[in-house]
Amino acid sequence: MSAIRRIDGELWMEGVRLAEVAARFGTPCYVYSRAAIETAWRAFDDALAGTDHLVCYAVKANSNLAVLGLLARLGSGFDIVSGGELARVLAAGGRADRIIFSGVGKSEEEMRAALSAGIRCFNVESEPELERLDAVARAMGVRAPVSLRVNPDVDARTHPYISTGLKGNKFGIAHDRALAAYELAARLPNLRVTGIDCHIGSQILDMAPLEEALERVLELAAAVVARGIPIAHVDVGGGLGIRYREEETALDIGRWCAAVAARLAGSGYSLVLEPGRAIVGNAGALLSRVEYLKLDKDKRFAILDASMSELIRPALYDAWHEIVPLAALDRPEALYDVVGPVCESSDVLGTDRLLAIAPGDGIAILSAGAYGMVMSSNYNSRPRPAEVMVDGARAVQVRERETTGSLFAGESTLD
Ligand code: LLP
Repeated sequence: MSAIRRIDGELWMEGVRLAEVAARFGTPCYVYSRAAIETAWRAFDDALAGTDHLVCYAVKANSNLAVLGLLARLGSGFDIVSGGELARVLAAGGRADRIIFSGVGKSEEEMRAALSAGIRCFNVESEPELERLDAVARAMGVRAPVSLRVNPDVDARTHPYISTGLKGNKFGIAHDRALAAYELAARLPNLRVTGIDCHIGSQILDMAPLEEALERVLELAAAVVARGIPIAHVDVGGGLGIRYREEETALDIGRWCAAVAARLAGSGYSLVLEPGRAIVGNAGALLSRVEYLKLDKDKRFAILDASMSELIRPALYDAWHEIVPLAALDRPEALYDVVGPVCESSDVLGTDRLLAIAPGDGIAILSAGAYGMVMSSNYNSRPRPAEVMVDGARAVQVRERETTGSLFAGESTLD
């Protein structure tokens, strides 16, 4: 579902004009559509209606409490990677027994917090992590439920920075060491093996590598079971790619779910998924305003009030986000490099964009609902933007804009 439509030249999200959101809450500002988030989550859940499953939203994609709260009310599970994300999910009303904990570097403190909350499962990524978790669980007098994240050595054919399933990558336990790791997990008295998981990368647009990874994981699961170690669930990770530009086709949620469900039918395994971007990516936009149009030799720059501090994806991954004016106005059209005010040449939001704009005009940077606000920084002492959730005809601020004072509230000078 596309969260944004243009009606009579103006951009709307559900029943709200985005120019109104920009005027009311200021720019830069993130805005999300409740309906788009719920529709995307339901696309997974509905497609898996006949399969024992749990959709665990990957909190890292967008961890605003309002987003988590909507999903918690739908009955979602959550995939977390830190104690901070655990606290957010619980604060938003998420159920602990629907939380799975991923990540290569869990601290003892994070393990303790997750064990006391009573999470569903730890996705363990190394042998030393198994040993640490066993020791932490022993000290607490509990048994920790574990799944091993295996690295299926499959090329996700996505950007190298967001590809995680190949050998030589820090993620997961190498395929050829996985059986020995399962035997270790089964021997450790304070662990209880419950599953197997993998995640080969993000923004994957082709189903073939995901299917290949699933086959490798199922083969391994069978080998684990054959050694007398029971596996209750298979977690296929996230990674489904969305459409950032017109010529791209998103990976179809229904098709992928149907393929996994068909493959697992009769296996006795329950299914866990960890989608992030596919749920929130297209549901959000970053609203901004044109500060200056600058002509430099034969280049034109549109300098916005948003920057790499608010949305780092173009600078970091060369990612492409559609950039459009909030209102189609009568302006001369020209090709612009769209940049921010930050003092870095990489502070670029888009290059060679044909835009009809003038200083003061409102701008939307689309498909910014995933890995947008969560990756924002205060670089150049820029306060983080406000976040707004649109719900039908209302727009609700779900995070205040940071104040300049808050930027250095915890700092001090030497006496
Ligand atoms: N599960 C695990 C273990 C993950 O590491 C990730 C994402 C997900 C699930 C969710 O993946 P998704 O469904 O969102 O593709 N910052 C990058 C993306 C980094 C993804 C990190 N891991 C970007 O802006 O493209």
